[in-house]
Amino acid sequence: MNEKLIILVVLLVLPGIFYQNNAAVVKLTNAVCESHNKSWVSIDLCRLKVVQRNKVALNIFITLLHPANDISVKIQVVKKANGYKPWLINYTFDGCQFMRKVNHPLVGWAWKMIKDFSTINHTCPYSGVNSLKDFWIGPESFPHSIPTGDYGVLLTWIFDKKPQFLTNVYFSFTEDLL
Ligand SMILES: *[C@@H]1O[C@H](CO)[C@@H](O)[C@H](O)[C@H]1NC(C)=O
Ligand SMILES: *[C@@H]1O[C@H](CO)[C@@H](O)[C@H](O)[C@H]1NC(C)=O
Ligand SMILES: *[C@@H]1O[C@H](CO)[C@@H](O)[C@H](O)[C@H]1NC(C)=O
Repeated sequence: MNEKLIILVVLLVLPGIFYQNNAAVVKLTNAVCESHNKSWVSIDLCRLKVVQRNKVALNIFITLLHPANDISVKIQVVKKANGYKPWLINYTFDGCQFMRKVNHPLVGWAWKMIKDFSTINHTCPYSGVNSLKDFWIGPESFPHSIPTGDYGVLLTWIFDKKPQFLTNVYFSFTEDLL
């Protein structure tokens, strides 16, 4: 083979190899849910389940005892470094408006990851049982651009301008193990 051919083969084959191995591993490590107002929100289940070595699924079942018409969600992302420290994302968005029109790029991406696993694909109001069932994060649904580390996505659910419950989900992200 001449050099050009070798280079061509390397260019064509290597990305394939990398692609197969660049399955960065994203693994759920903990889930904490807490109701601040049990007369409105009951946490029925909030648990991780190991499905396979690198596949951990999350189940959350929450009952809203009254309809919620005014929902904001505060999202904070933390990364472990001597305890969890704020990491890039910390803001609040209008959940009802978002469900009317998925228009926020970052939240939209998170929504894409969970929507097939959840019952929340509708507009406000929300009531009764709302769930996230057997949710797990496949490498292909995750951007590869974050550093290896332990992260937490902390969501505070605010109804009528008052925090009602939180769902904190922790995961580890490990870059290409090549
Ligand atoms: C708790 O929930 C009840 C509805 O069951 C609601 O009327 C009340 O405002 C809530 N309390 C707070 C502090 O949000
Ligand atoms: C997010 O911002 C609020 C103030 O807007 C602050 O109180 C809170 O500690 C911040 N959380 C993180 C994880 O940075
Ligand atoms: C909810 O699901 C329907 C049908 O699968 C889809 O057309 C719609 O875009 C989804 N809504 C959101 C907010 O993702």
